[in-house]
Amino acid sequence: MIRGYQPDDLADLRRICLLTGNDGTDATGLYPDDALLPDAFLEPYVTLVPETCWVAELDGRPVGYLVAALDTAAFTERWRDEWTPVFRARHPHRETGPEWLYDVGDGEEPRYWPSVADHYPAHLHIDLLPEAQGHGNGRALMRQLGLAALAAGVPGIHLSMSPGNAPARAFYDRLGFDDLGVGRDSIVLGIDPARLA
Ligand SMILES: CC(C)(COP(=O)(O)OP(=O)(O)OC[C@H]1O[C@@H](n2cnc3c(N)ncnc32)[C@H](O)[C@@H]1OP(=O)(O)O)[C@@H](O)C(=O)NCCC(=O)NCCS
Repeated sequence: MIRGYQPDDLADLRRICLLTGNDGTDATGLYPDDALLPDAFLEPYVTLVPETCWVAELDGRPVGYLVAALDTAAFTERWRDEWTPVFRARHPHRETGPEWLYDVGDGEEPRYWPSVADHYPAHLHIDLLPEAQGHGNGRALMRQLGLAALAAGVPGIHLSMSPGNAPARAFYDRLGFDDLGVGRDSIVLGIDPARLA
C-alpha cells in the first residue's frame, strides 16, 4: 500500500535510508555516524516538504519511501535557513567524515544544476527495503510524485544517483528517465511527470 507520510513514520524511514544507503545496500557503519545519511537525505524532506513524501507499507509497517521537492530552488533556500542549523548541531565535527556528505547536510552542495533548472525543477530520492523491491512499489511511489508534479504544473523531475547503483539505473531507465548529461561524480536523470502519472 502506498500512502502519504505521517510524522510517526520518521524512525522507520530513517532506518530504511540507512539500510539502503550504500548503492542500494546496507550502509550501517559506512560513515562515522549512522545518522549522517538520514540527516542529509531523508529528514530534511519529511520536515520541510512532508506533502511530497510517500510511504510504501507492508503488513502495517513502512518498507520504503519516496521523498521529493517540487521546487528545488525554493527548497534549497529553506534547507539552508531551517535545516542546516539542525544538521550542524547534530554533526558539528565536519573533519570526521566525508566532505560531500557534510556538504549535502549543510545545504551547500549545488543540487540544482543551472541547465536543469528550467525543465526539471523537482527532484526526488526513493528507497525500498529488499523485501519490498520488485513488486511494483517503486513504480507506484513514482506515480504519486508524477501526479503531484502534474497537478502543480511542474514541467520536469530530476534525480542524482551513484553510477555504482546498476539496479536503480535499470529501474529509472525502465520508467523512462533520460540522462541529462550534467553530473560529474553522479549521474543526473530527468523525466516529464506525465510519463510517471
Ligand atoms: C530502485 C528501486 C526504487 C526500484 O523499485 P522497485 O519497487 O524494486 O521497482 P518496481 O518493482 O516498481 O519496478 C518497476 C519497473 O522497473 C523494472 N525494474 C526494477 N528494477 C529493475 C532492475 N534491477 N533491472 C531491470 N528492471 C528493473 C521492473 O521490471 C518494472 O518494470 P515494469 O513495471 O515495466 O514491469 C528499489 O529497488 C530500491 O529502493 N532499491 C534500493 C535503494 C536504491 O537503490 N534506491 C535508489 C537510489 S538512487
